[in-house]
Amino acid sequence: MEPSSFCSSMFSLVLLISGFMYAGVVNSIGINYGQIANNLPSPDAVVPLAKSIGITRIKLYDADPKVLKAFANSGVEFTVCVGNEYLAKIQDPGKAQEWVKSNVQAFMPATKITCIFVGNEVLTFNDTTMTGNLFPAMQSIHTALVTLGLDKQVAVTTAHSLSILETSFPPSAGAFRRDLKNCISPILDFHAKTGSPFLINAYPYFAYKSNPKQVPLDYVLFQPNAGSLDPATNLHYDNMLFAQIDAVYAALASLGYKKLPVHISETGWPSKGDEDEAGATPENAKKYNGNLIKLICQKKGTPLRPSSDLNIYVFALFNENMKPGPSSERNFGLLKPDGTPAYSLGFALNSSSSGNGNSNSSSGSGQGGINPITIGSSPPGSSSNGYLSISSAPATERYHLIGSIPMMWLVLLLVKVL
Ligand SMILES: *[C@@H]1O[C@H](CO)[C@@H](O)[C@H](O)[C@H]1NC(C)=O
Ligand SMILES: *[C@@H]1O[C@H](CO)[C@@H](O)[C@H](O)[C@H]1NC(C)=O
Ligand SMILES: *[C@@H]1O[C@H](CO)[C@@H](O)[C@H](O)[C@H]1NC(C)=O
Repeated sequence: MEPSSFCSSMFSLVLLISGFMYAGVVNSIGINYGQIANNLPSPDAVVPLAKSIGITRIKLYDADPKVLKAFANSGVEFTVCVGNEYLAKIQDPGKAQEWVKSNVQAFMPATKITCIFVGNEVLTFNDTTMTGNLFPAMQSIHTALVTLGLDKQVAVTTAHSLSILETSFPPSAGAFRRDLKNCISPILDFHAKTGSPFLINAYPYFAYKSNPKQVPLDYVLFQPNAGSLDPATNLHYDNMLFAQIDAVYAALASLGYKKLPVHISETGWPSKGDEDEAGATPENAKKYNGNLIKLICQKKGTPLRPSSDLNIYVFALFNENMKPGPSSERNFGLLKPDGTPAYSLGFALNSSSSGNGNSNSSSGSGQGGINPITIGSSPPGSSSNGYLSISSAPATERYHLIGSIPMMWLVLLLVKVL
């Protein structure tokens, strides 16, 4: 490793640490907490687990009161969901207000709810009724927030799948499906007026899975590769996720919305799949999510929007055993239901290191005291967990923590991570 790249790596490592330390920092990493399972820990047990891996933002697919209550005073920021099944009903202003009162207001301010997404991937289903209900439902929820005086704290949006794009390559040619234009335009206008972000679920995994012979694996896993050039912009893309995000920016720009923030509401990689599901392995999941987290922490934007922070929710916190579909669907989790890592991410997001370099060598089992995401093998001289702490302790303590990470460990960590 050259000295200069070592230094910049170290810089990014510090960013990596500090990125996790400031809740509300633009580049913090969020996670999707899905619960389509019958074997997950109780929300009360998930709190220490989420803290132990340094999660500062959580996105739910409902507004589960048990979760929202459990995370009271945790500092974790929440995005909650009005499910697709409520879109019709929620257009009634009274129903919308009732929903916001009992699912959002009731938990604030102890639980920090900052966003409501109304409907998940609604436009993907080509269901004209549901599509027609989407925008009115968003408006109705926003109006309820205004009435309750919460609209400055809570943004309203909806999450789309990438299939709402008709063209996504090259990124500069990004365009929405023509048949969706009429329903997307008022939504974009709503984002622009209320300042809420445009959410997209983007999975390079699915592109790879459907075409493993043509799509280079390194390109989808953020590994070194030749990449591709966008002939229209001359921008170089060395990973598919960035190309997908920029296709969304281009699609938005083509309709006149150049300034809308784009957040990636889901992305991830399964660690297991059926035999015909190419690429679903723990090694690939580790590369995808590990490299992704490193990129986020480097505070780099995409080629088209280099100074816009990546705002990403990884999918997902847990493997979910009741999800229908191919095996991969049940294996997107960073964690197994028992709270142990589904695979090694390549580095520790947090550890119970006490900050003086000594760490607790009790190997993880049970809730709360474990370090679910740790390097597979430990650096010599350290315990099996805990050579890198990410903490939400007060700032002075945090810096102490960083300063106290022994250089030797940093070097070893970088060798592993890079
Ligand atoms: C929805 O419609 C689009 C455009 O006609 C089509 O490409 C797509 O396959 C359809 N999706 C579903 C789930 O039927
Ligand atoms: C380490 O963990 C063990 C078992 O959980 C506990 O008894 C011990 O006090 C811990 N030590 C430190 C330094 O935290
Ligand atoms: C780090 O993990 C420990 C338990 O493993 C937890 O007690 C502590 O609060 C975590 N620090 C955070 C939230 O960064």
